[in-house]
Amino acid sequence: MINKIYKMDAVKFLNSVEENSVDLAIIDPPYNMSKAGWDSFKSNKDFFDFTYKWIDALLPTLKKTASLYIFNTPFNSAYILQYLIEKGLIFQNWITWDKRDGFNASKKRYTHGQETILFFTKSKNYTFNSDDIRVPYESTDRIKHAQKKGIIKNGKRWFPDLRGRLCGEVWHITSERHQNKVKGKTQKLEHLTPKPIEMIDRMISASSNIDDLVLDCFVGSGTTAVSAKKLNRNFICADSSAEYVKIAKKRLK
Ligand SMILES: C[S@@+](CC[C@H](N)C(=O)[O-])C[C@H]1O[C@@H](n2cnc3c(N)ncnc32)[C@H](O)[C@@H]1O
Repeated sequence: MINKIYKMDAVKFLNSVEENSVDLAIIDPPYNMSKAGWDSFKSNKDFFDFTYKWIDALLPTLKKTASLYIFNTPFNSAYILQYLIEKGLIFQNWITWDKRDGFNASKKRYTHGQETILFFTKSKNYTFNSDDIRVPYESTDRIKHAQKKGIIKNGKRWFPDLRGRLCGEVWHITSERHQNKVKGKTQKLEHLTPKPIEMIDRMISASSNIDDLVLDCFVGSGTTAVSAKKLNRNFICADSSAEYVKIAKKRLK
């Protein structure tokens, strides 16, 4: 079953995964934004019934030491967070993805430009490789100065870490839609909502180790599988669309 992408409904797929076998789940599900048939629900209630159903199927597959990342809108994430807390999971971060992109301009409120990624763990014992996901310092002049003599921080002499600073919970990563613009115009991508691979690389590097098992039951264009393979992790993935599974398998090759 390992290192394969299945054309399967998420809940059916999750029910077929061995219990307590997954080290890391990266879940980028529908958002109920009516962007496609697979993202359309009759009502908010239908959407949350669907969401809670796949969460219920997912949780038994996770090891006690597992981590879980779930993408969604900030509004939906507020409900998903509450549900995960009720199920006994441990909240770690509300990650804000600043997409460097805009959905739709609005003059009646602030324009949307972020998505949420909830980071939860199943217990307090989990992997977090903070040094593997360090990011560059922003104030380069100050850092250059500090590298020579250090700077005094809280009464102690501090020297910057040459690998960069620890990664924060606001991620400034340009969306694929925006990265692939030609002369300012968005292009039709193979998948409607592919996630930037650098974002998935960060989650896998931080929250798993080599040979661990990474699961994604809404894999779309295959980003999680491609990242897992590149980083020498195992994966099991699924998507209900035959067309997307074909794209994902092609990318994986
Ligand atoms: C937000 S996209 C995932 C995009 C993916 N992260 C990527 O980088 O390409 C959500 C995916 O969920 C799939 N999907 C929707 N309903 C599903 C279901 N019930 N079971 C499995 N997959 C489903 C869609 O086909 C779509 O590819």
